[in-house]
Amino acid sequence: MEIIKVKDYDALSDKAGELIAAKLKELKKPVLGLATGSTPEGLYQRLIEKYKRGEITFKHASSYNLDEYVGMKKDDPNSYRYYMNEKLFKHVDIPLDQTHVPAGDATNPEEACKKYEQAIQAAGGIDIQILGMGLNGHIGFNEPNTPFTAETHVVDLDESTRKANARFFASLDDVPTQAMTMGIATIMRSKEILLLVSGDSKAETLAKVIQGNVTEAVPASVLQNHPHVTIIADEAALSKLN
Ligand code: F6R
Repeated sequence: MEIIKVKDYDALSDKAGELIAAKLKELKKPVLGLATGSTPEGLYQRLIEKYKRGEITFKHASSYNLDEYVGMKKDDPNSYRYYMNEKLFKHVDIPLDQTHVPAGDATNPEEACKKYEQAIQAAGGIDIQILGMGLNGHIGFNEPNTPFTAETHVVDLDESTRKANARFFASLDDVPTQAMTMGIATIMRSKEILLLVSGDSKAETLAKVIQGNVTEAVPASVLQNHPHVTIIADEAALSKLN
């Protein structure tokens, strides 16, 4: 694990922007694994700025998002497809048919998960997977005690995760109870992983992820077993390291 310590969220976004831009330049057909949530928003802004300055192109890139709520229409402002369109895709030159988000509105979500997994493998696998981390150490929507062997699957969301995400909805009742997510095994097959963590609320969990045992109770701890992981975290997020 390489740990890059930065001062604050802005510096985290700058550094992540540099790393992803370098990947886009290096690879002929980059396959990006993308995350939603608050953490990567700054990174996406940096990528848009670099694109507008003519420094990078997404023309030959494809993308696979980690997760989506079950039962969510693509054009619902709370869907992760909508988030990606608004925060990144519509501002850059990535052809929309090269972008993929699990089909939350599928009539058979389990089947849609299998197809998603196959599509990632058919694309040659993910070159670099961007991850945020939940307060409980979840990655994607892989909540504590999800088996490390899981591939893309349907999950019941933890109450704590629903509460954390309720800020985007009118009320807690409106937060979906299920999601589709790449599994830990899917994430671990990525050639490279970039985990972004900001803020003191995640400091205790991040210390466990980096220095604790590898355990399904702390999903992100599995990253210790991956050969090519970079963690970019700010001082606040790294404040509980021993
Ligand atoms: C989002 C995702 C989640 C988030 C995590 C952190 O696609 O998979 O695991 O990365 O919940 O969310 P934020 O960044 O909002 O703290």
